[in-house]
Amino acid sequence: MFRVAILTVSDRSAAGVRDDQSGVVIRELLAAELPCEVVAYRVVPDEQPAIEAVLREWADRQVADLVLTTGGTGLAPRDVTPEATRAVIEREVPGIPEAMRAASLRVTPFAMLSRMVAGTRRRCLIINLPGSPKGVRENLEVILPALAHGLDKLLGDPSDCAPT
Ligand code: MTE
Repeated sequence: MFRVAILTVSDRSAAGVRDDQSGVVIRELLAAELPCEVVAYRVVPDEQPAIEAVLREWADRQVADLVLTTGGTGLAPRDVTPEATRAVIEREVPGIPEAMRAASLRVTPFAMLSRMVAGTRRRCLIINLPGSPKGVRENLEVILPALAHGLDKLLGDPSDCAPT
């Protein structure tokens, strides 16, 4: 069972004026496709120091193996989730956002507007997702089949990857 934490980045959700539907979608998809439990959940406004603080806390205190953020990846002036994530990660995993954007571009040209990034800090994989429930679903579905293997490796599984 992997331990997953969900961070919703949204001024409106943090202010209580919008329900966090994207967090709900993340939970639904995880329950169907990854052996995991959601161990932490937080909603923060689009403020880089606040985002970084939560990501550091979850990674450094070993609260979660996987952190999924939703929101704040676009071009709006207050969208800073990728900057916060880059400040926190030690190793970037570019294939994850590459795969999400490639698949999403078949659905909508707006996919190119998400600047989402992914990377590891200590033994924690942090992945940005867009803010809309639709964007969350269409992106998370693409990467779920690879996540268990990636997390196994991150957590120290020494076995040979090569399929026979
Ligand atoms: N990717 C998919 N698959 N489906 C979507 O609907 N929305 C896009 C994009 N990525 C979308 C998507 C839109 S409209 C924006 S503005 C960017 O993600 C950034 O979203 P964010 O700022 O809410 O993170």
